[in-house]
Amino acid sequence: MPKIKHLNHVAIVVEDIDDALSFWRDALGIKMHELRDVPAEKSKVAFLPVSGSEIELVQPTTDDSGIAKYLAKRGQGMHHVCLEVDDIDGMLAQLKSKGVRLITEEAKTGADGRRYAFVHPESASGVLVELYQL
Ligand code: CO
Repeated sequence: MPKIKHLNHVAIVVEDIDDALSFWRDALGIKMHELRDVPAEKSKVAFLPVSGSEIELVQPTTDDSGIAKYLAKRGQGMHHVCLEVDDIDGMLAQLKSKGVRLITEEAKTGADGRRYAFVHPESASGVLVELYQL
């Protein structure tokens, strides 16, 4: 049976990463470990580690990406929760067998080699869930 290993990150969509950092980094005092542009996803991201997991701030850098449309429609807020699994293919098969609606039917491979997939919020209490296998 595939297993959930870890809460990898919680992603928050923001209009302006510098404004958002004034709370997450400066007011809360979480040390930022990385800030980078992700041209492939038309966004800029900041990672702030918290006890083995991370808060990920995502700012769209164009108007035409999925996340930019999400921001335009719903405003800033929580975008997704990412769970790390030991066997993403096994987990996707298990979810399908239980009738869970998936956005990503087959795991994709990111630029950094991580494999990932998304579960539709409709099947996950209204929350977009990302699955990661490192
Ligand atoms: Co994510």
